[in-house]
Amino acid sequence: METSQPEEWQIVLIDDEADIREVTAITLQDAGYRVATAADGQAGLTLFAECAPQIVITDIRMPRMDGLAVLESIKQSDQDTEVIVVTAFGEMDLAIRALQLDASDFITKPINDESLHLALRRVRERYTARKQARDYTALLEKRNADQARILHRDKMMSLGRLAASVVHEINNPLSGILNYLRLMARVLNRGPLDAEHQAKFETYLELVESETGRCSRIVSSLLTFSRKSTPAFEPIDFTELIERTMVLSQHKLTLSDITVSQQVNPNLPPVEADFNQLQQCLINLIFNAIDAMPQGGTLDLSVRARQGNQGVSVAVKDSGTGIAPDDQSHIFEPFYTTKDEGFGVGLGLSTVYGIMESHNGTIQVDSAPHQGATFTLHLPSAAAPQTEVSEIVRRHL
Ligand SMILES: Nc1ncnc2c1ncn2[C@@H]1O[C@H](COP(=O)(O)OP(=O)(O)OP(=O)(O)O)[C@@H](O)[C@H]1O
Ligand SMILES: [Mg+2]
Repeated sequence: METSQPEEWQIVLIDDEADIREVTAITLQDAGYRVATAADGQAGLTLFAECAPQIVITDIRMPRMDGLAVLESIKQSDQDTEVIVVTAFGEMDLAIRALQLDASDFITKPINDESLHLALRRVRERYTARKQARDYTALLEKRNADQARILHRDKMMSLGRLAASVVHEINNPLSGILNYLRLMARVLNRGPLDAEHQAKFETYLELVESETGRCSRIVSSLLTFSRKSTPAFEPIDFTELIERTMVLSQHKLTLSDITVSQQVNPNLPPVEADFNQLQQCLINLIFNAIDAMPQGGTLDLSVRARQGNQGVSVAVKDSGTGIAPDDQSHIFEPFYTTKDEGFGVGLGLSTVYGIMESHNGTIQVDSAPHQGATFTLHLPSAAAPQTEVSEIVRRHL
């Protein structure tokens, strides 16, 4: 992160007494500050607008516009400006009023160097800390926005690939349905149905119904997956998760000559997660597995409770090319790919990583060249204690 210390500290000093103004300005300049002075509140505000100082030192008792009015006006235009007010000895009530109006500190007249520098050191620290906090918040917001963009981009790419593969899957049953309907229409045109045709029609109608149901399931899974929804944490039914994911990937797996086995253990501890995002993770892992098995192979999907029922682990295991140790340290980086241009962008695993992070989960890879790869998602149980927010912030700082 950039340093939050300004290169130069600019002070606007407002006091109606010329002597005090001059002496204080010299003291401040000697200490390395850039100083601009004004003889009354109105001139002070004009100077403030011109030089945008980090610090304003203003006398409270001044004719026409007093220091409290100056303070209020400054805080209205820029809350972050540090304002030190100067009061006469014994004017505690004014000092308190100034602090209530968000003055950073007060010093009393006659101004002594030590208390002036002490007050300045405090407001500088306050200013820097506040700026750091703001920079950090901006950084977090930007990081979140970047992550959301990558997530969406990866999803659209998965969607493109899924759509291409399910179009075939929908097309086959549709032509089957069309053929049966044409056949039935032709028979009906010939005259009333005899008993033999009646029985055949019943079988055809059952086929039409089941095939239409299959198409509709595929389309609805694709639509659910493509919806740009804000992440919502809900209890996860892992059987449904695997089933919906398979509806979308089955055709590509069959085409690639890959045998699939699935196992969802019963009695899983409760997990709250974003269903859609978990599906995106699984689809990314399954598509990677397919790419790693160009000659076909086996894919095992398993869901089991983590040790001590602390959560749920979802493993995607393939019998493909495996991953070289050198590549393993990079595969989660965005845009890292070993695939030829047009075959991979390198966003799949970094997206899975990001999704796991936002779920307080982790992803583990076990692989060796020519020995396949297993990617395991570890998700915490909704019943397990969550990491304290303050701890997260501390870890980031
Ligand atoms: N199951 C796997 N077997 C072998 N290598 C894998 C497997 N999964 C990932 N990899 C390696 O990790 C790299 C990064 O994977 P990632 O999913 O992030 O990107 P990609 O698949 O190359 O491109 P994209 O997913 O954006 O289309 C892959 O290029 C590949 O080298
Ligand atoms: Mg991929």
